[in-house]
Amino acid sequence: MFEFDIAYKKYNNKFDIHGTVLYPAPMIAPIQNKILNELVGYKKEIRLLDPFHGSGIALYEAALLSSDFKINGFDINPLANLITNVKLNGINSYFIKEDAFQIKEMLSSDIDFPIHDFPRIEKWFRKDVIMSLSKIKFAIGQIEDVRNRKYFWVIFTNVVRKYSNTRSSTYKLHIKKPNAISSIENNIEDDFLKRIEKNKSHYLLNNYNHNIKKCDSLVEMANMDKNCIDVLITSPPYGDNHTTVPYGQFSTLSIFWIDKIDLILDGWEMNSYSTIDSMSMGGSVTRFELGKLEKTIVEEYTNRIAIHKRKKVVRFLADYFEFLSQTIRITQDYIILTLGNRTVDGINISLTQISKQYIEAKSKFVILKEFSREIPYKRIPKITSSVNSMSVSSMNLEYVLIFKSLTIEN
Ligand SMILES: C[S@@+](CC[C@H](N)C(=O)[O-])C[C@H]1O[C@@H](n2cnc3c(N)ncnc32)[C@H](O)[C@@H]1O
Repeated sequence: MFEFDIAYKKYNNKFDIHGTVLYPAPMIAPIQNKILNELVGYKKEIRLLDPFHGSGIALYEAALLSSDFKINGFDINPLANLITNVKLNGINSYFIKEDAFQIKEMLSSDIDFPIHDFPRIEKWFRKDVIMSLSKIKFAIGQIEDVRNRKYFWVIFTNVVRKYSNTRSSTYKLHIKKPNAISSIENNIEDDFLKRIEKNKSHYLLNNYNHNIKKCDSLVEMANMDKNCIDVLITSPPYGDNHTTVPYGQFSTLSIFWIDKIDLILDGWEMNSYSTIDSMSMGGSVTRFELGKLEKTIVEEYTNRIAIHKRKKVVRFLADYFEFLSQTIRITQDYIILTLGNRTVDGINISLTQISKQYIEAKSKFVILKEFSREIPYKRIPKITSSVNSMSVSSMNLEYVLIFKSLTIEN
């Protein structure tokens, strides 16, 4: 089982649905597809969960493969929820031509529309860009069919980001130089219309066997019954968002532009550009403490990190152990983790070792397969931080760990 190569050096998501919308740190779709394909039919109905679904790559691939999968997904980020729901629900093909035409007509007419506003909008968008995006926002809001309207929002998020004043070289909000801002060419409306036309053929799945929740996974998983999931497949964050991947900052710029009626919100998400990051794993509040086993597992890393950097790392790891502890409680058969090992203060924090040690010590799961692959393209540079003025390398390898429960026969 699972005897294949996962290098995928030449994989380019440009040719599939996952390339139609940008979201940070995506999984490699064909890898998840190959893994899930091995599980198709091992049970008639496979209860699947991705508790950090992000842009829904694993969940979409599961839905593509088989209706055996009963799909569940959680993410704290409303943009991730919207993208995943749209990938799984698809568009309404009966009305898409009409709806796209309606948008085109509105954009080419001299209509009245409200000019959108939110905190610091003029820092992140040029005035003429605000006008064009406001007109598109208004036009999308007039579409009655919910599936098509949400598809338009997803495509719109790429356009929002492309014509914003933030740099494309990083997921953090980082203002471009003034000359780069003034040289942005405003062909926004035309670009948006072309994208909705070009990408719609990818959104034809119409899966009805899924439940995608906008929630904090650590809270949600604690409320789930023991063994209520057959296969848990996910790529958790590998550190707190602020010092690793700021999913929240990346998403908030787009979230501000989408009509609230089409987002699942608790109400706090838009308090600032980084609230989602603060509320995510390892965020600004300490929720869990390390127990005796957990301390033993991580002290070889944490003891070597400077004290002022240790707190954040320990806070993240305590959340991570809570995730693992709930995972082994709610999962019956397989746990599949795509992981990155990060470096803090020159110390490589091996989430793969940490996960293996904890899961094998605390549960009925054993490691069945371990893959690694080089990450060919990265937005986070390979050399990121400096220790004693020397550059140190960041995360360059990605790992996939497959655990199997000892209670499964054969
Ligand atoms: C590595 S990304 C997942 C990427 C995804 N596998 C994909 O291919 O697009 C991790 C995700 O965890 C989410 N996340 C972080 N903390 C969370 C929490 N406490 N509850 C739910 N989701 C959380 C982030 O919003 C992010 O989407």
